[in-house]
Amino acid sequence: MRRRRRHRCDQATMLQLLPLISLVLLLLPSPPVRGQWLDPESKYSGDQTEYTRPNADLDLRLDEPDIAPNPLGGPEQVFISQADHTGTAFTISWSSNRTMGSRVFYSNQPSSYDLSATGGSSTYSYADYTSGNLHHVTISNLTYSTRYYYRIGEGGSDDRHLVFASEFVTPPPPGPDSSIKFAIVGDLGQTYSSNVTLSHIEQSGAQYLLNVGDFSYADGYQPRWDTWGRFMTRYTSKVPMVFAYGNHEIEFDNAVDAVKPHDGFLSPNTRFSAPWQSCGAVAAIYYSLNVGPVHIISLNSYVGITKYTPQYNWLLSDLEHVDRSVTPWVIIITHVPWYNTYNAHYMEGEVVRSAVEYFARKYRVDAIFSGHVHAYERFKRLYLYEEDECAPVYITIGDGGNREGPAERFQVIPKPETSVYREPSFGYGSLEIINSSLARWQWHRNQDKGDVIADSVLIESLAGMNSCPLPPQPSQPRYDEHELLQSY
Ligand SMILES: [Fe+2]
Repeated sequence: MRRRRRHRCDQATMLQLLPLISLVLLLLPSPPVRGQWLDPESKYSGDQTEYTRPNADLDLRLDEPDIAPNPLGGPEQVFISQADHTGTAFTISWSSNRTMGSRVFYSNQPSSYDLSATGGSSTYSYADYTSGNLHHVTISNLTYSTRYYYRIGEGGSDDRHLVFASEFVTPPPPGPDSSIKFAIVGDLGQTYSSNVTLSHIEQSGAQYLLNVGDFSYADGYQPRWDTWGRFMTRYTSKVPMVFAYGNHEIEFDNAVDAVKPHDGFLSPNTRFSAPWQSCGAVAAIYYSLNVGPVHIISLNSYVGITKYTPQYNWLLSDLEHVDRSVTPWVIIITHVPWYNTYNAHYMEGEVVRSAVEYFARKYRVDAIFSGHVHAYERFKRLYLYEEDECAPVYITIGDGGNREGPAERFQVIPKPETSVYREPSFGYGSLEIINSSLARWQWHRNQDKGDVIADSVLIESLAGMNSCPLPPQPSQPRYDEHELLQSY
């Protein structure tokens, strides 16, 4: 009897606890799914190979060797970037927590370092954080398609904590006969999945990295900008990075007197470098450059771009002055996609799309790469939501692997004809410019830590499409603005 009574009591207790247990189970993160589409209502459009599709991942632990600080305060967080419009000058940027000169020794011969250049350094403060000394040194008059070796740090020392040495290759000369390969990544962050993505990019053989925004996911916690810089150094000290800012680059601090549009990008503007002076822009918030046969435009999704704003006027002038006989390829990198069928950030790019899509079509931009949505999606050539052979290809590549996890749900179901391929897995893209008329785009999925090409397509340049008629007038944003504002 006693035993039976206790049993009834256990059952009753269990019944009482059931809602609590259910709540706990609901709050637990869902485990990674193996070989199963995450949105059961959607139709999977690509390779259905089984693998474990990751969920949100953790940031790299602060004691991981790749992101631990330099114990002697010497050079770390090294980035190189193109410093002029055509690729004969490069800026080498780094951070140091010890006092050191902003000087770079370099040569096109290994271990020679017989040339040198000096630059400057600055710090910035954000709340109770003060950055290390952030150095920028530009080396100029470089030869195209040439390997350069450089060394930063204190002369005479060979301690790797006081001296940093690396090398990079300059781009081919601007011109239609050049070829080049880009790696394109978005929303990378600094998780263990980000690390897998970066390892795959390292193996890609790309000559430039195009980063479509949301770099570190520091979100105001400035030491995570430092760890991101250390995390990236193994690649960005060798391969130039061209970037477009995302929303995670916006950090407003009450202590910062933010009166100009670029003031809100305090940390990246101080840490990184871009050739904005050589294209008539006002800061690294938007700019353009030529890399071999490609004219690259970096647009800012978070600075005004509607009619007559400075970014709008600059973009029109920039597009008007592109010489397709020199750069037959024109691409745009920008954070928020203009076309998107995922639930995440659905139609968030409508204001920008409706403001400048007409000009992207008029000037026959070949492709527009975006991030923001943590997934991959490739569209056909589109204008005003319809197929148009004279309009850009749209690609979302926001799947770098940050801690917020993949965008798992779709807004448009079933997949519309205009979206060729969509999948919320981690990875990166590669764009190989084969010649003046043909490029190969590939999406590389992180598949159980392997690098698998899950989508591949040849893209033809629009440079020769002189017969394209002028596009019809641009449309207004399609969403109900009142409804959108209420959702914020
Ligand atoms: Fe974003």
